[in-house]
Amino acid sequence: MWLTSSSIGRKFVMALTGICLVLFVTFHVLMNAVALIWPTAYNVVCEFLGANWYALVASAGLAVLFIIHIVYACWLTLQNRKARGADRYAVTSRPPQVEWASKNMLVLGIVILAFLVVHLIQFWAKMQWQELRHAELAVLPVLDGTPVPPAMGTLMLQLAFSEIWTPIVYIIGFIALWFHMNHGFWSMLHTVGWNNNVWMPRLKKIGCWWTSIVVLLFIAQAVVFTVHAQNKYYTTDSALQEQYAEYWDNYAEKMQNEFFSEMTKAVKAVNDPMAQRTAQQEFVEKSGRQFMEEAQLLDSISKVQFPGVMPGKNFGNVQQTSMQIGYMIGNTQQPN
Ligand code: HEM
Repeated sequence: MWLTSSSIGRKFVMALTGICLVLFVTFHVLMNAVALIWPTAYNVVCEFLGANWYALVASAGLAVLFIIHIVYACWLTLQNRKARGADRYAVTSRPPQVEWASKNMLVLGIVILAFLVVHLIQFWAKMQWQELRHAELAVLPVLDGTPVPPAMGTLMLQLAFSEIWTPIVYIIGFIALWFHMNHGFWSMLHTVGWNNNVWMPRLKKIGCWWTSIVVLLFIAQAVVFTVHAQNKYYTTDSALQEQYAEYWDNYAEKMQNEFFSEMTKAVKAVNDPMAQRTAQQEFVEKSGRQFMEEAQLLDSISKVQFPGVMPGKNFGNVQQTSMQIGYMIGNTQQPN
């Protein structure tokens, strides 16, 4: 097939996947910009892009694009080296920074890939992946001893950017991205072979401006997120605290409802009233401790993630249920 068998076909695939990746990166920097100007809305966006079918389809498509782009990049580099030997670059009429980037595209790509691995471990693995595998509280990422829910992007920013090495690694990645994207635009225009003396320089300028704006925005974001994380803004801002309180109150309601619906099922499974009482006692003994532990955890969460907001009514209900369970199983040790 032309797209795999000819050199120009392979370059075309690089250009096409490259354009899609540029569009993704542009969308991504704009999404991060929401975190700068309206952090609570950022959490809503993160929730929207969780483990829903449309977000999963987009993530899978993106992964395929990255893989094709990387595989073809290695293939083209090997092919060029074989064809040209030591004299790998016959064309030298390039601006100096394009010339430098051109010789180092593979290395720049590897630096970006290394950044991506760190980045996905810090964000994707703690967000979409946790939602996908329906992670329990006990295995979620931890902030001051409390679990961070996958949709709370601002708390993930707090976790990632309170590490001082994070902005350093990110800014190295962004600089590599600038050279890589800038040369990518240049290379794509040459692959398309549009030798228009007026539009070629204009498009190259547009590519350079586009890349510079995207990368400068990423750098500004990394700096602001670091300053905010160091000042603990993401756990002290009152609007964010309200949002966390609401999230956890909904969680408490779900937890309480699930516990009672499971207990009702266990009781209804037997007919005799005496046996029902025993079934209830057995259920509470079996599942009650876990409920009490989670109730205690919710109490710690309220102190760490929203200390300035009164927990909602479902929080109170959970604490009350926990106390009743304590009495039922003869464990009077109650959460603080
Ligand atoms: C300040 C810089 C950045 C921040 C704060 C940031 C933050 C995030 C966040 C919160 C997610 C969502 C994870 C999820 O919901 O699963 C994410 C995903 C991702 N980011 Fe970034 N990002 C930054 C820069 C970049 C750059 C420069 C690239 C690429 C070169 C990139 C590539 C990705 C990819 C591939 C994903 C996975 C997307 C998916 O699951 O579909 N990020 N990032």
